[in-house]
Amino acid sequence: MGYVIRALMQQGEDDYDSLGPVLMLRHLVSSSLWNSAENMPGPNENGTTGIVGLLTLIANERQRCGDMSERSNEAVEVQAPELSRFTTEHLQQALGLSTELGWPYRLEDWAFAQGLGEGLALEQNGMLIGTAMRWQYGPAFATLGMIIVANAAQGRGYGARLFDALLDDAGSQTLLLNSTQEGLALYGHRGFLPIGEVHQHQGVPTRKLPSPELDCIRAAEVSELPMIDELDSETVGMPRGRLLQCLAQAGRLSVIARNGVVTGYAACRRFGRGYVIGPVVAADVTQAQTLIEDAISKLPDTFIRVDIPGVSDLGSWLETRGLKRVDTVTAMVRGTPPQPSGDARLFALCSQSLG
Ligand SMILES: CC(C)(COP(=O)(O)OP(=O)(O)OC[C@H]1O[C@@H](n2cnc3c(N)ncnc32)[C@H](O)[C@@H]1OP(=O)(O)O)[C@@H](O)C(=O)NCCC(=O)NCCS
Repeated sequence: MGYVIRALMQQGEDDYDSLGPVLMLRHLVSSSLWNSAENMPGPNENGTTGIVGLLTLIANERQRCGDMSERSNEAVEVQAPELSRFTTEHLQQALGLSTELGWPYRLEDWAFAQGLGEGLALEQNGMLIGTAMRWQYGPAFATLGMIIVANAAQGRGYGARLFDALLDDAGSQTLLLNSTQEGLALYGHRGFLPIGEVHQHQGVPTRKLPSPELDCIRAAEVSELPMIDELDSETVGMPRGRLLQCLAQAGRLSVIARNGVVTGYAACRRFGRGYVIGPVVAADVTQAQTLIEDAISKLPDTFIRVDIPGVSDLGSWLETRGLKRVDTVTAMVRGTPPQPSGDARLFALCSQSLG
C-alpha cells in the first residue's frame, strides 16, 4: 500500500504543485484501496513513518470533502497557498504534518503548544501544508518553533514565507529557537546565530532502588508557584509564569525546598510516546539528577524523554539511566540573549519549541 501511494505521489509531483499529489490520490485511488488505506494501523511505539502522516492527510481531506467518488473525473483546481492565523481548527491537520515527519506529538501536545502561543497556518485547497508558532515570554523575548512544511511542499519557498511572516509579527524582540539540520539555512539567512546545542535523550529508564536523598523532594504546593516562577525567571532570564501555571495543570511540579525556600524544581507531563521531564532547574548537577530520579521513580517502566542543554553535564548520567541520546539540535538566537542571574542552572528544557 505504501509503495502504491509513494508511486502515485511521485507521479503526482510531476503534474501538480505542492499538495497536488494528495488531492490527486483521492481521484486516482479506487474506493476499496482508499478504504483499506484508512483501515491501516496508526503510529506505533517504534516511531511513525511518512506514510502514516500522508494517510492522516488523506483521511482529513476525505472527511472535509465528503465522498467525492461520483466526481472522480473532475479536474482539481490547485489554488495558491494562503497564510492565516493558526487556530484550534488546524490542530488535527497539524498533527498529520508532524506525524509525517516522524515527530511524536499527540493532538494534546499540539493543543498545549497552541494554547500557550500564537502561530500561522499555510493552507492550499483547504489542506494545511505548513505551520509556524511563537511563544511570548514578557515583552522582550519569544521562542519560535513548530516550523513545518509538508514533505510534498518543501523546497518551494513556503518555509521562508511562513517564517518571514512570523518574524514580521515578532517585531524587534529577542527570538530564540532550536533548529533541526533542515532549518539551519532558513534561520541563518535571517540573522539567527548558533549559541549551543540541545541533546534529546529518551527511553525506558533502567530500574533503580530508591535512594534516600529523594526524601528532600516533594510535590510543589500551589502557594509555591510564585517562588518557582522567580527561580525560573532568574535562571533562564525570561519571565515564564504562564508556562509554569500550564505545566502545573498539565502534569506534576516537584521541588527541593529548604527552610521554605525553593532551590530547585522539575516538571513532568504526558508528551509524545510517554512522559517528558522538564524544565529542570537546580543548584547543581547532583540536585538535577535527584529531581529527575524522583520523577522517574513515579513512572516505572515508562518511556521518558529529557531535552538537555549540551553544556548541562547530564548527558552521560542519562545514558547510564537508559535514556539514550537520539538527536541533537542547534540552539539559535537573534538579538541580545537573555541574561540569567542567580545561582541555579537550567538542566532540562520544557520542550525544544517552548524552550
Ligand atoms: C525547515 C523547513 C520548514 C523549510 O521549509 P521549506 O519550505 O522546505 O524551505 P524553503 O523552500 O522556504 O527554503 C528556506 C530556506 O532554506 C534554504 N534551503 C532549502 N533547502 C536547502 C538545502 N537543502 N540546503 C541549503 N539551503 C536550503 C532555501 O534557500 C531558503 O533560503 P532563503 O529563504 O534564505 O533563500 C522544512 O524543510 C521542514 O518542514 N523540515 C522538516 C521540519 C523541520 O525540521 N523544521 C524545522 C524545525 S526547527
